[in-house]
Amino acid sequence: MAERTLSIIKPDAVSKNVIGEIIKRFESAQLKIVAIQMRHLTKKEAEAFYDVHRERPFFDSLATFMSSGPVVAMVLEGENAVAKNRTLMGATDPKKADKGTIRADFAGSIEANAVHGSDSSASAAVEIPFFFSRLDLVR
Ligand code: CMP
Repeated sequence: MAERTLSIIKPDAVSKNVIGEIIKRFESAQLKIVAIQMRHLTKKEAEAFYDVHRERPFFDSLATFMSSGPVVAMVLEGENAVAKNRTLMGATDPKKADKGTIRADFAGSIEANAVHGSDSSASAAVEIPFFFSRLDLVR
């Protein structure tokens, strides 16, 4: 069964000019892009996206970072898309990420870690509509 997940290429990776290299990894892993947009989030929008982390000590810094430059938000579709995307991304902390993963190759720190991916299909069901309406999703 095809599943959908939300992927975000974060401001650090956008400014390093590696959007294409990251997208290539999704496509090579048979994940299809069914919606895509580039936008510069306000700090309030970044806070709203990461609302589940509101009580964490890194919340303010994370929202500042996520609104520091444009991001590319995408809906990826494919078999086991959530888990597949998380394997491609690697661990949150790039120092702990497996060799050859997106974060090992492109991330500079646990905060500026190149990409975000939904951690479950329940999260994807909340995160996808944050960026995309039903009409934006290609069928
Ligand atoms: P992401 O997968 O988008 O989910 C939450 C984000 O918070 C994470 O990636 C990092 O960008 C950021 N972050 C900053 N510090 C930490 C931390 N100590 N633990 C987890 N996430 C962190």
